[in-house]
Amino acid sequence: MANVKVIFGSTTGATESAAAEIAAAFGVQAINVANATADDFNADLLILGSSTWGVGELQDDWAVKISLLESADLNGKLVAVFGLGDQSGFADTYCDAMGILAKTAKNCGANLIGQTSAEGYGHSSSAAVEDGMFCGLALDDNNESEKTSSRIGAWVEKLKTHLN
Ligand SMILES: Cc1cc2nc3c(=O)[nH]c(=O)nc-3n(C[C@H](O)[C@H](O)[C@H](O)COP(=O)(O)O)c2cc1C
Repeated sequence: MANVKVIFGSTTGATESAAAEIAAAFGVQAINVANATADDFNADLLILGSSTWGVGELQDDWAVKISLLESADLNGKLVAVFGLGDQSGFADTYCDAMGILAKTAKNCGANLIGQTSAEGYGHSSSAAVEDGMFCGLALDDNNESEKTSSRIGAWVEKLKTHLN
């Protein structure tokens, strides 16, 4: 069995609940980054999630613990990212924190998987988008909570194909 770890940072619970759903699909428990240790960043597939706060910033617990990710040896490791944001209220910085996680993981040698199309979202700008693709899974419980479960389901299936 592949070793899958899901690490999240969440202030009001939205990212926590998405992380729990993603982790359950892999039969594991999600880890709150506030309690994470360096060991938690060692996995066959590392799934990292953050909401965006301030204007385009990492969630607070991620901001405190980002050095754990920066110092992880992710060479050749599969990493996928997901983010929660508000594409209407923060249209210029939608899910920027997910972009920060992806960039940091790539700097550590990660093989980033799980990119998704940005089509159909209503934001105007995002640090998590390149060439029309999000670097991971973008969720929006403020405006489109009804889409969250199906978006997670489709994304998880895609990630699982990389483990076979
Ligand atoms: C003060 C404040 C700042 C926010 N800044 C952003 C932002 O820059 N970009 C974004 O996409 N969402 C932003 N959001 C929306 C949150 O990311 C969103 O509500 C998210 O679901 C919170 O997830 P959490 O409960 O897991 O922390 C902001 C929300 C608040 C209240």
